[in-house]
Amino acid sequence: MMQSVLASSMAASLIGTSAYTPIAQPCPAHYEARFPSILCIPNYGAVLPETFERTISSIPGHADTYGSTTVADDESFQYVSKADFLIWDLERAAKILGPKPSVEVMFEVENLPHEAPVYHPELNMVLFCPLRPPPSFYVVDLNDEKPTLKTRTSDPPLFGPGALYHKGLLYYCGSGTHSGNYVGGLYAYNATSGKAWPVANNYFGYNFGTCDDLAVAPNGDIWFTDNWYSYALPELHQNNTIQLEPAIYRYVPSTGLVQLISDALDAPNGIAFSPDGRTVYMTDSGADRITPDNHSLRYIAHRRRTVYAADVLPSGTGFVNKRAIFLSQDRVPDGLKVSRAGYVVVATGSGVDVLDRDGVHVLRVQTDFTVLNVVWAGKENTDLWMVGWGKVGRVKWALEGNHLVR
Ligand SMILES: *[C@@H]1O[C@H](CO)[C@@H](O)[C@H](O)[C@H]1NC(C)=O
Ligand SMILES: *[C@@H]1O[C@H](CO)[C@@H](O)[C@H](O)[C@H]1NC(C)=O
Ligand SMILES: *[C@@H]1O[C@H](CO)[C@@H](O)[C@H](O)[C@H]1NC(C)=O
Repeated sequence: MMQSVLASSMAASLIGTSAYTPIAQPCPAHYEARFPSILCIPNYGAVLPETFERTISSIPGHADTYGSTTVADDESFQYVSKADFLIWDLERAAKILGPKPSVEVMFEVENLPHEAPVYHPELNMVLFCPLRPPPSFYVVDLNDEKPTLKTRTSDPPLFGPGALYHKGLLYYCGSGTHSGNYVGGLYAYNATSGKAWPVANNYFGYNFGTCDDLAVAPNGDIWFTDNWYSYALPELHQNNTIQLEPAIYRYVPSTGLVQLISDALDAPNGIAFSPDGRTVYMTDSGADRITPDNHSLRYIAHRRRTVYAADVLPSGTGFVNKRAIFLSQDRVPDGLKVSRAGYVVVATGSGVDVLDRDGVHVLRVQTDFTVLNVVWAGKENTDLWMVGWGKVGRVKWALEGNHLVR
């Protein structure tokens, strides 16, 4: 097969620039021996034979993938859905991946969404949450020779879709409860003492919808996204009516202020700052749509599936110059994180996209499960852990995560 792909690409180059180039090719020099698990896609696959067809499913989480596209007239395309890595920009991808990149499933968990992956550097553990009550955490202990999976519960119980580490504590965007009456918002968790407590749990008496993800701004404020997804969970909201529009807020620890900073996204979801703190990245997963009347969830491919960048105001009170920088190639963009060098790593459907600071697509990591969020972990800060529907995965590569504030 490899020969035939090479032969047809050679044929294409003999015919000239107007000839068709097979989509999937071995990556010259760097990863030739890893074909077809590492594929290079020249010219971003800009031209497909005209009978191509991508079929869309409207079920959230079961949406189509690029690799599921039918491309009858290109023998090489069959490799796309099975590859571990798809590369569009080999020069930059080789620096990101290093000589021996790998992607593997580490654990199988219940077939429901898992989120809020967070690395605790003092404990050398990754924590994440199943997004169904009763509240609990999974803990991946990296101190063991082979990572092990345990469970634990905080006091009081807490869970949620977003988490971060900051100065010895974990902060959650989620819901906590003493009594079974779930209250959404920002929470803090001391993983040593096991104690959790609310940090901000209302907006002048209104309930937040789904505090979904959070990031610490350069001045120490916590920026967080709030959307409607948890209304699809009857255990959480029973018959609650939606009280607030989907929005992005900032919380000021020194004063307790919660300030609206954007209501421009359909479903604000992931959020992260660039290493210099001047740019904020946000995802809008509005294509996964909650109907306000009956709280049902549908996937509509032509709605927002977008990563935005914006300039943080010098005052730290908001952002300007919001610009779309990436349209998700598969499903919706969910959690995102930024590498130490400024690459933006976004969970998108069955995998993770790596974009440069301007949103230019460099490579994609592919998985056999839907990835909802990612986090760097480990002493070297170069392993990327992925959580989502039913599985937990790990990428080993050369891309180092942004520094944690100890
Ligand atoms: C967490 O709790 C432990 C045990 O109570 C305490 O020693 C430690 O200072 C707490 N950490 C933070 C960051 O507050
Ligand atoms: C929610 O609505 C359903 C159907 O109308 C009703 O059976 C149920 O008792 C309600 N639950 C609460 C907690 O009010
Ligand atoms: C929910 O409402 C939407 C329209 O707003 C409708 O298309 C859908 O069928 C409804 N679902 C249920 C379960 O009633």
